[in-house]
Amino acid sequence: MPSIIVVGGQWGDEGKGSIIAYLAMHDEPEIIARGGVGTNAGHSVVINGKKYAVRQLPTGFMQRKARLLVGAGVLVDPEVFFYELEHLKDFDVAGRVGIDYRCAIIEPRHKELDRSNGYLHGKIGTTGSGCGPANADRALRKAKQAKDIKELEPYLTDVAAEVNDALDEGALVLVEGTQGFGLSLYFGTYPYVTSKDTSASAIASDVGIGPTRVDDVIVVFKSFPTRVGAGPFPTEMPMEEADRLGLVEYGTVTGRRRRVGWFDFEMARYSARVNGATMLALTMLDKYDKEAYGITDYDKLPKKAKEFVEEIEERVGVPVALIKTGPELEHIIDRRDTI
Ligand code: GTP
Ligand code: IMP
Ligand code: MG
Repeated sequence: MPSIIVVGGQWGDEGKGSIIAYLAMHDEPEIIARGGVGTNAGHSVVINGKKYAVRQLPTGFMQRKARLLVGAGVLVDPEVFFYELEHLKDFDVAGRVGIDYRCAIIEPRHKELDRSNGYLHGKIGTTGSGCGPANADRALRKAKQAKDIKELEPYLTDVAAEVNDALDEGALVLVEGTQGFGLSLYFGTYPYVTSKDTSASAIASDVGIGPTRVDDVIVVFKSFPTRVGAGPFPTEMPMEEADRLGLVEYGTVTGRRRRVGWFDFEMARYSARVNGATMLALTMLDKYDKEAYGITDYDKLPKKAKEFVEEIEERVGVPVALIKTGPELEHIIDRRDTI
């Protein structure tokens, strides 16, 4: 069985959460491991009409059979971690969660700095979650690690060992990325980026998987990309246009209004290449073509929606294997068997 990495191809908030939730329920991975930066990311998912959001735990929490792991590369904010354990207690997460003992810790002072610093807060428009300052301390070798926090002790594990053991045994491992390609510290719109690389290679490293052990990379794109915070957005549309098209969205973590744009084929192609995409996932197709709402069979998609998917496949050069047509978990077209 393979390892699958899911990453964002734009500026985050592509709807990775809903793709991961689908894969978690449908493919039944034994392990769902989270890579990425830390609690700056918010993934939301709708289950039976109820919306859940996670910033620290894996978004695949609803798969009750899976072990839920947070990789060594990820920053842990104990306050957020314990809040989510409580918030998701209906899903019995506490008994299944493991945090790598080497994760670096976000302390209150990191959050204060992230919210008061004129450069980070004012110019870059960070999420204020303390991730940048905590990663800076990590690079300076001053950050605390999860193993230094007494309350985290019951959850500590070696995520890299667990994930590699599972792969040795032929189990399926689902790895979640956070943010998006345009926010990568290396490949994004520097300095308007997050504090780490966000491409698939970095996510693999976060959870301790070597490049030779990655089988599939799914890059997620939203039909109308969004961006929160400052920085270039070449295909951005005026706010009034987003209002008119019913595309207004607010951030999961910060509540800030998201900037909205048209699909950027050039960026998508570059992002798919650097991520080594084996498949693409497209979300919010119903926002592009209202007639596509809730459709689960590719052949039943209206012409306009199909043409958009075909144009993406042609111009990006990678098959669109998963298509979200609505907010619920089951609003999805899964054509992985055709590629
Ligand atoms: P990631 O950070 O990439 O996980 O995205 P996000 O979770 O931050 O995005 P957001 O908070 O905007 O949440 C996405 C919301 O859109 C969730 O409530 C999903 O259920 C919903 N959603 C996902 N895919 C679709 C879709 O195809 N159509 C519609 N209408 N809603 C969707
Ligand atoms: P930071 O990651 O909080 O330092 O924020 C740096 C930049 O990345 C800002 O523009 C944020 O808005 C953006 N950012 C960080 N995480 C996310 C995310 O999960 N979704 C969208 N934007 C994000
Ligand atoms: Mg998000």
